[in-house]
Amino acid sequence: MKIDNKQLKIPCLDPNFFILSEDKVNLARFETMSGRHPVNILSTGNQGCGKSSLVRQFAGIYNRPLATFQVGLLAESGQLFGQQRLKKGETYYNEFLFPKAIQTPGCVIHLEEINRSETPHALNELFSVLSEDRSIWIDELGLVEVAPQVIFFATMNEGDEFTGTEEMDAALQDRFYRIHLEYLPQKVEREVLVRKTGIEKDKADQVLRMVNQIRNNDQLEISISIRHSLMIAEMVALGASLREAMIYSLQISKDILESLLLTVQVETGEIETEMDEYLLYLPEY
Ligand SMILES: Nc1ncnc2c1ncn2[C@@H]1O[C@H](COP(=O)(O)OP(=O)(O)OP(=O)(O)O)[C@@H](O)[C@H]1O
Ligand SMILES: [Mg+2]
Repeated sequence: MKIDNKQLKIPCLDPNFFILSEDKVNLARFETMSGRHPVNILSTGNQGCGKSSLVRQFAGIYNRPLATFQVGLLAESGQLFGQQRLKKGETYYNEFLFPKAIQTPGCVIHLEEINRSETPHALNELFSVLSEDRSIWIDELGLVEVAPQVIFFATMNEGDEFTGTEEMDAALQDRFYRIHLEYLPQKVEREVLVRKTGIEKDKADQVLRMVNQIRNNDQLEISISIRHSLMIAEMVALGASLREAMIYSLQISKDILESLLLTVQVETGEIETEMDEYLLYLPEY
């Protein structure tokens, strides 16, 4: 069978992606194992802590094509493989990317939000391809067999604040190695902000002092992902004050923010409430 690999690309490397040394070593072990027998990896952690980036980086490092599927969007079984379509009064089967991807040797199959599919039925086919025999019968396609060295890399958010997230099915969980990601230590996160946004080191520290103040405040119940600290840092790098950067990047009320800024005691210049000034919003000539 000819496989159309147009959508299956080896992802670009992120030159500024940091990982725990232990995780790096063990991911290399999974890579080795995948040459001997099927390997499935589940990456868990809070929102925006780098799960999806890790999957991309893993694929990039080992020169593997990557295909990503939103399991959270699946509503019924069969949806991953294909669909009956109508063309000039005749029905035909339109094969989706999933069967192509799992039949591509060495492909990394990223299953996003594996714990969030709308109905458990949607996961039925996944059970078959994730199990030891790694194949599934699809009436329209025949026997679909997972190619050698394919790695299934599932990700799911796992944090206290995630309500509405189904616990992952135990039988499904049983089929995975697990790698749990934590938010980066402040020193490393600072390095990421500096490298990715060009923010100055001391400003990055200011941002992270503020961000960690919010992260460690249980009453606020706001989690600030690395994605968000990057957004804040990028604004600061472009000349925004910390106050502005936080207001525009976070969904947090101005009042709460002002008082937080005070407690963190950044320079008075930063804290001063700027007067709201209104002007016309038109192109500048
Ligand atoms: N360890 C890291 N080193 C460098 N950048 C990182 C790291 N972790 C996360 N980032 C950056 O933070 C942003 C969010 O990461 P990513 O999308 O991978 O998180 P996620 O855990 O998949 O998020 P979600 O829970 O929303 O799916 C990306 O821009 C990513 O590059
Ligand atoms: Mg993600």
